[in-house]
Amino acid sequence: MVRRLVKQLLGRSGYALFNARKHYASDGLFTYHHDRFRRDPNFRAAYARGVQASQGLDPEIEWRVHVALWAAATALRVPGDFVECGVNAGFISSAIMQYLDWRTAGRRFYLIDTFTGPILAQYSQQEVQHGRVKAAEDAMAAGAYVTDIQRVHANYAEWPNAIVVQGAVPDILPALNIASLAFLHLDLNCASPERAALEFFWNRLSHGAVVLLDDYAYLGHQCQADAIDDLARQLGVAEVLSLPTGQGLIIR
Ligand SMILES: C[S@@+](CC[C@H](N)C(=O)[O-])C[C@H]1O[C@@H](n2cnc3c(N)ncnc32)[C@H](O)[C@@H]1O
Repeated sequence: MVRRLVKQLLGRSGYALFNARKHYASDGLFTYHHDRFRRDPNFRAAYARGVQASQGLDPEIEWRVHVALWAAATALRVPGDFVECGVNAGFISSAIMQYLDWRTAGRRFYLIDTFTGPILAQYSQQEVQHGRVKAAEDAMAAGAYVTDIQRVHANYAEWPNAIVVQGAVPDILPALNIASLAFLHLDLNCASPERAALEFFWNRLSHGAVVLLDDYAYLGHQCQADAIDDLARQLGVAEVLSLPTGQGLIIR
């Protein structure tokens, strides 16, 4: 009775009562809608492999990983290699490789990162003003970026076609001789190298290839979205799909 009254009062003021234990409420996303994927054993195994890559740390990003798994599975239907720019401990890429049974996928997965953290000189003045450099410095000080390359190699050791590349995006890209891509995951948390990577790979993406932008719609990452939108206009992309998980999606 009291609950119904409170609900009615809140409803009239434009608010809703929301049981966060019963519905998905994580990583900046609240929804009443079905999250059935969370009970799928293949999803659970993939997510658990991501947590393993992070040495037990669970960032509670299930819906984001669900989107990444869908994107990667869709990309497997078109020819080309997989590329991730911004790997860190390998959470999302490990989940993908587990989900797609990478040993049998017959593709290469290039995993590109400095493995020394973000390159502070790459941030624009606007990103500095938006607190991106401070966030990067804080993350580095907290040890949030993996710098132990042996640990990274050990994580991917079970997959022979996982190619760990230590280098700076975009400078390292031409040396990799990647001719054709099916999947590109951009997760550098910085506008300029993400834009440059998308520009570099655009004509190498197969028809139907999937580009997943981890931070496109994420709170505080507006500069990355602006840079990608600007390039997308030049490339003739109709629109980047903005997702409630904070990600962005382009189908080539
Ligand atoms: C948010 S983390 C990536 C998270 C990862 N995708 C995951 O699944 O957990 C961002 C990573 O981008 C890397 N990075 C940032 N700028 C870079 C650049 N210009 N070149 C290469 N790596 C870079 C950092 O070292 C960091 O490991």
